[in-house]
Amino acid sequence: MTATLPTALDQPLLRGTGLGEFRLPNRVVMAPLTRARADNPGPVPTELHAAYYGQRACAGLIITEGTWVSERAIGFVNVPGIYSEAQVAGWRRVTEVVHALGGRIVQQLWHTGAASHPDHLGGELPAGPSAIDPRARSFTPGGFRATHTPRAMTAGDIEATVAEFRAAAANARRAGFDGVEIGALGAFLFAQFLNPRLNHRTDAYGGDRAGRRRLLLDVVDAVTAEWDGRRVGVRLSPYMAATDRFVVDEEMLAGHDELVTALNDRPLAYLHLRGPDVAAPGGAPAFEAFARYRKRFDGPLIANNGFGQDSANALVDTGCADAVSFATHFVANPDLVGRFALGRELATGDPATYYQGGARGYVDYPAAG
Ligand SMILES: Cc1cc2nc3c(=O)[nH]c(=O)nc-3n(C[C@H](O)[C@H](O)[C@H](O)COP(=O)(O)O)c2cc1C
Repeated sequence: MTATLPTALDQPLLRGTGLGEFRLPNRVVMAPLTRARADNPGPVPTELHAAYYGQRACAGLIITEGTWVSERAIGFVNVPGIYSEAQVAGWRRVTEVVHALGGRIVQQLWHTGAASHPDHLGGELPAGPSAIDPRARSFTPGGFRATHTPRAMTAGDIEATVAEFRAAAANARRAGFDGVEIGALGAFLFAQFLNPRLNHRTDAYGGDRAGRRRLLLDVVDAVTAEWDGRRVGVRLSPYMAATDRFVVDEEMLAGHDELVTALNDRPLAYLHLRGPDVAAPGGAPAFEAFARYRKRFDGPLIANNGFGQDSANALVDTGCADAVSFATHFVANPDLVGRFALGRELATGDPATYYQGGARGYVDYPAAG
């Protein structure tokens, strides 16, 4: 560990904070990480999931991997859902373990929309905002496959999707979660609706920025009708060029500015922003990006993307974020908070084991000792 890193307990990251109803002993959040370990027909989380999340209970807040709100949300193999009783029971075991170890855990709700693939949907085409291929890739039982041109969602599909998110949130509460996070990032359902390149609808869910954000806001309103909004977070990625259909331009940024302003009118636990990569050469624009949303959102803000201990402490110190989430560091450092506190070196995870299934590269990374 270099001498410049603080090893004392007075680091901004190690100060407790509140995000909505959640009381965090530190500001080191575990970001959602799809790990594809639910290799059963359910797909149901297992004892392996309980061990994995339990090992990481030191996090101020754990946000689970994205989990399916329904069968038609599925777009990635071996990812668990939260739409069946077996899944609720599997997740209850996970939340019990995390809570017994002193942690807090919210469930990320995920729908891939047009970024799914017929191989996940019994041969049927996925549905998205319009019949336009998002040109993404879906991890199917047969490996990564290019997406197809989807069918456009009907009014009935949209109504059903809102209801599925609400039901999933109710299931998450029964499974013992502290809250839920609505995953609205990447190349997935909400990001497709927000994107004028993919959303050519002429009804209330397209046409202009207000129309394009309506689906996400309807879902936020449905989920917060089911559960106290101060236990509901939203995750956005305005700077993510997920595929060549997701371009970071002035229109997309303006759309997200307005969306964040609309979210600010709702009582939420937090806004979780995947910004520009702080670790990329000239990381300063990343700090400016968080400042941009800080101006528009009065509630708690979690920042993400490329952070290490120094950059995360520096950002929290500026006041532009209340907490920082770490994804890849939590893969190989289950005791990440302790390593920050003690100034221990960080281990590096093996990307070959991210999605391969099984215990290796999942629950066998040791604590620093
Ligand atoms: C293996 C892997 C799986 C991921 N799964 C999810 C996910 O399920 N939901 C999500 O919102 N983001 C997901 N992400 C994105 C991360 O949460 C995070 O935004 C990204 O890794 C950058 O953060 P980092 O620099 O701390 O790793 C994933 C990233 C990786 C590497």
